[in-house]
Amino acid sequence: MKITIIGAGSTTATALIPMLLDETDAQLQLVSSNPTATEHPRVVADVVDIADRSALKDAVMRFMPEVIVNAAAMTNVDACEMERQLAWTLNVTVVEHLVRIARATDAHLVHLSTDYVFDGEAGPYTEQDLPSPINYYGKSKLAGENAITTAGIDHTILRTNVVYGPPSGRPDFVQWVIKALDTSRPITVVTDQFSNPTYVDDLAMAIIRVVERKRTGLYHIGGADYLSRYDFARRIATFFKVSTDLIRPITTAELQQAAKRPLKGGLVSLKAQAMLGLRFRGVESGLVSVRHAMFQR
Ligand SMILES: NC(=O)c1ccc[n+]([C@@H]2O[C@H](COP(=O)([O-])OP(=O)(O)OC[C@H]3O[C@@H](n4cnc5c(N)ncnc54)[C@H](OP(=O)(O)O)[C@@H]3O)[C@@H](O)[C@H]2O)c1
Repeated sequence: MKITIIGAGSTTATALIPMLLDETDAQLQLVSSNPTATEHPRVVADVVDIADRSALKDAVMRFMPEVIVNAAAMTNVDACEMERQLAWTLNVTVVEHLVRIARATDAHLVHLSTDYVFDGEAGPYTEQDLPSPINYYGKSKLAGENAITTAGIDHTILRTNVVYGPPSGRPDFVQWVIKALDTSRPITVVTDQFSNPTYVDDLAMAIIRVVERKRTGLYHIGGADYLSRYDFARRIATFFKVSTDLIRPITTAELQQAAKRPLKGGLVSLKAQAMLGLRFRGVESGLVSVRHAMFQR
């Protein structure tokens, strides 16, 4: 099978690519804004400006994949609020390009989205709950989803939340906490934003199962534990045996982030676990995996 990965330098793709190479015999096309380091007989890499419609189309049509996985997005929530045009380009226009390309190549489009499509009044959310985004990131990601669901192509949308893993190109919440506490830097962490953090390999495995089992539709992917960011930070500190004294509680209202945040976010993942035959790990088990991966490097 031939699989194109758009946003090959993303946190998600960084976990997904080696797992695909280990666990399947797929041939991969890695599409990224930067040269990718992976050298493997089953990998071709293309440096492409994904906002350039014809460059993206030419690159993907050269490879003619059966599956396109879109892991590219503008994911910085506050930056999306301030740079709306760029957020729309990356989170909607690029997705519209991919829909056309998927139609032309008859490929299955696997797309990643977020619990931030919900307002956070009543999470964790199921696939049946109605989206109602409260910030520009969420709005743009929902518009991206809609571009796919209305297109009449084979597609799968995987919504996820608070993805963490071993150090990759972009620091995630776990790496941010570890680094701060390691260097004795105090951090303020919100007590009233709730989610169920997702270990990146669980998300990657969900993508692989979607591809292998040709599952279409909407799936929610989140970890087994539902907790506040503050409690998550304390669990990280305790796990890595550093003092929790440097973790200061703050409310979302006090923090004054540029973009509004859904407070009770998070995703009920029962459908995904049943349909994909997976069990998503909780925080303790995720942190064991982070530590294991960090020691292996
Ligand atoms: N991380 C989370 O906690 C989280 C939570 C909920 C949902 N999600 C969703 O999951 C997906 C993957 O997230 P992620 O955290 O793995 O992504 P990420 O690490 O933030 O990477 C996103 C990728 O998008 C591409 N990209 C970003 N800005 C770009 C620009 N200006 N021009 C061209 N390409 C650009 C880059 O790909 P290249 O480096 O290959 O060019 C970048 O590596 C996204 O759809 C996101 O909305 C993530």
